[in-house]
Amino acid sequence: MSAKKLLVDIHTHVYLPRYASLLRSRTSVPRILSRTTPSGDTEDRLLILDHEPSGGRPVGPQYWDREEKLKFMDKHDIDISVVSTANPWLDFLPPSTAHSLAQDLNTDLESYCSTSPLLPSSSSLNRLYAFGLLPLVPSIPIPHILSTISQISSLPHLKGVIIGTRGIGKGLDDPELELVWEAIEKAGLVIFLHPHYGVGNGEEWGERENGHVLPLALGFPFETTVAITRLILSGILDRYPSLHILLAHSGGTLPLLSSRLSSCIDHDPIVQHCLKHDARWYMSKLWFDAVAYGSEELGFVSDVIGRAEAFDKPGSSASVSVSVGGEGRKKGSERILFGTDHPFFPPLNESEKWRSVVENLEAIDGVRGWDQEAKDGVRGGNALALFGLS
Ligand code: URA
Ligand code: ZN
Repeated sequence: MSAKKLLVDIHTHVYLPRYASLLRSRTSVPRILSRTTPSGDTEDRLLILDHEPSGGRPVGPQYWDREEKLKFMDKHDIDISVVSTANPWLDFLPPSTAHSLAQDLNTDLESYCSTSPLLPSSSSLNRLYAFGLLPLVPSIPIPHILSTISQISSLPHLKGVIIGTRGIGKGLDDPELELVWEAIEKAGLVIFLHPHYGVGNGEEWGERENGHVLPLALGFPFETTVAITRLILSGILDRYPSLHILLAHSGGTLPLLSSRLSSCIDHDPIVQHCLKHDARWYMSKLWFDAVAYGSEELGFVSDVIGRAEAFDKPGSSASVSVSVGGEGRKKGSERILFGTDHPFFPPLNESEKWRSVVENLEAIDGVRGWDQEAKDGVRGGNALALFGLS
C-alpha cells in the first residue's frame, strides 16, 4: 500500500492571544473593536486597513484559538499547517516594542506548534509549524533584526519568517537590509512575502463602494509584485542565490509580467547590465503559493516557472523556444504550494467546507498537464521539501 500523500497548508494565519490583546488595547488602526449589535450581542471587529469598509471584518477565536485551527484543518483534511501571523505584523510599532514583541511572539509560536498533536501517520512530524516574525520597522537597529533571526533559527518548529513589503520603511531593495538577507540565507529560513498596504493611496479605487474587492483582489497582488520586482532589480537574488522566497497569492502579477519586465530592463540603460540573468530566469528561483482560485492561473504560473531556466543569460530571449503545457508545465509545478489564507474569507454558513479552500483544491486538481505526481507535490510534497519536513 502506498503511503498517504499529505495535504500541507502553507498560507494560513493567526493572531496569537498576545497579539490580539495588543490590537484590543489600541484606539487607532490596526485594532480590534468590540461593538454591540442591533440585537444586543457583543461582537469583535477587525480593523487593519485604512478606510476599512463596513466597520471592519468579523474576528473571533478562529484567529487565536489553536483548537479552531485544528478543527478547520480536520474539516478540510489538512494534515500540516505552517502558520504565520497575519498582517500588519509589527509594522506599526516603535522599534523597541517591535523587537521585544517579535521575540515573545516567536516563543509563543514555537509553543503553539511544539505542543500540538503529532501527525497520526508519523512519529516525528507535528501538525503545526510556523513562520516567525522579524521587527522590521523604521529606525530599528539592524543587530536587533539579526538577533531575532538567530532566535527563530533556534526554535525547531519555526521554519521561516513572514515579511511585508516595506522592509524597515524603504522597501526590500534598501541597502540597509543587506546583512538581513545574508543572515536569513545562512539560517536556511524560508521568507514568506505577503502584502498588506496595496498600492498607491487608495484613490485609484474610485468613489463607488466596492467593499474590500479592489484592495484585496488587485491591491494586494500588485503590492507583492512591486516588492519582489524591486528586490530582483536590486540584485539580491544574484548576491544571495540560496534565499528561499515564497510569494503570496501566486506571485501577484509577476508571472504575467515577467517578459515585459525583461524587455523593459533590456531597453533601459540604467538597469540593463545590473542583473546576472534575464528577468524571467528569476521565476525559477522563487516559490509561489497556490492561492489563485483557478486551474488556468496555476497552469500559467507553472508554465512561466517551467520555462524560466532557459532564460539563463540577459538578452537570451531571442534564442529560446520552450514548449509549455506538457512536461514544462509539470516541471514548474514543483515550486507551487497549496494554501488557504484561513481565517480570512470564511463562508457565510459555518457548517460548510470553506469555499475558498475547496476552490483552491479543485484548481490544483484541474490543471491540464499536471499528472498525479505534480498535483500531490502542490498539495503537500513541495512544502515538505521546501521546509525540510520529513
Ligand atoms: N485579508 C488580509 O488582510 N490578509 C490576508 O492575508 C487575507 C485577506
Ligand atoms: Zn494571507
